Amino acid sequence: MAGIYIHIPFCKTKCHYCDFYKSTDFGAKTDFLVALKKEIKERKNELQQEEIASIYFGGGTPSVLKIEEIRDILSLIEQHYQLGEDVEITLEANPDDLSESFLEGVKTTIINRLSIGTQSFNDHDLKSMNRRHNSRQAVNSIRAAQYAGIQNISIDLIYGLPNQTLADWETNVEQAIALNVQHISAYHLTYHEGTVFFDYLKKGKIKELPDELSLEQFKLLLNCLKEAGFEQYEISNFARKHCYSRHNKAYWERKKYLGFGPSAHSFDYHTRRWNVSSLKKYLQAMEQKLPYWETEILSEQDQYNDYMITSLRTKWGISVAYLEQNFAEKFVQHFKSEAEKYLESKHLYCTNNVYLMSTEGLFISDKIMEELFFLE
Ligand SMILES: C[S@@+](CC[C@H](N)C(=O)[O-])C[C@H]1O[C@@H](n2cnc3c(N)ncnc32)[C@H](O)[C@@H]1O
Ligand code: SF4
Repeated sequence: MAGIYIHIPFCKTKCHYCDFYKSTDFGAKTDFLVALKKEIKERKNELQQEEIASIYFGGGTPSVLKIEEIRDILSLIEQHYQLGEDVEITLEANPDDLSESFLEGVKTTIINRLSIGTQSFNDHDLKSMNRRHNSRQAVNSIRAAQYAGIQNISIDLIYGLPNQTLADWETNVEQAIALNVQHISAYHLTYHEGTVFFDYLKKGKIKELPDELSLEQFKLLLNCLKEAGFEQYEISNFARKHCYSRHNKAYWERKKYLGFGPSAHSFDYHTRRWNVSSLKKYLQAMEQKLPYWETEILSEQDQYNDYMITSLRTKWGISVAYLEQNFAEKFVQHFKSEAEKYLESKHLYCTNNVYLMSTEGLFISDKIMEELFFLE
């Protein structure tokens, strides 16, 4: 089973924290759709009839597309790829795009999951992030999607925002729980170079939250969501009743996927490919029949390090049996010896030969992963 990711590189405005590839110039939208469909068709043999388990429209802002445009892309995929019976099809959507008519349109397609970029239910936070919606629209968009009959809804939240108090964050989490969604992704704010927030930070206009407060916010998130019946299945992802994001789970399980559109990545166990992060170059190269991507063949060391990054962050952890079956002895030994001190400090625990992070481990996951890496 494999996945398909489609990158829609347009946003009406840019959010102050975001470094995903996007453009606010919609002038090339028609050309982009033509090129995207060409890529979808041209790469159909890469999967050799392998069934598609998930399709994910990400961005940018996929909800800026018209329903007919989304339907067109999906029917082309249906024509050229083998969709699994139970395929999960997610559309990332911004709250301000979720009108009644758009949602009704979504229901007429084979999309069966929405990932709504709520980010916060607090007007001050939303304004400071340069989101286009306010808290009332955040709530209404989720209710409207539920009312339209979409039964698998995920929302994104960001915490660790400048000046965000623990009480502010608690109100956000409580509001999210009250809305009865199936899935919540909650990310700690990262300051990426090139974003407005990064610039503000450099100029001293905003300050990073103290580490202790970030940690308090993370703990509050874990406790509140656990109490509300959500299962944490990855550092930032929480699901009710096993409504995991099948698409993301497949990434973490290192299953094969094809990524279409500028900046989209693809993976086939041994090779990683990434399309150019420029719509102009994507269109030009395609027109001139030149490559619009780069590839990297993954060494055994790369594959081992990838396994560390993708598995340790999930509730399925790192399996010694998998390591032994797939990697040379030196990698297995390296893993066991580096993991030892974290077993002693109880940041890791091991059951049935599977290594997992404890709650304390989750707080220092980056450091643990770094030490488990094999670097020569
Ligand atoms: C591709 S982005 C956004 C999709 C959609 N356009 C939207 O705005 O809702 C996916 C998610 O990544 C998260 N994200 C993006 N940049 C982030 C950052 N710098 N720090 C933390 N989370 C971030 C946001 O929660 C966002 O919804
Ligand atoms: S968060 Fe979403 S809407 Fe905002 S700039 Fe990034 S991709 Fe665009």
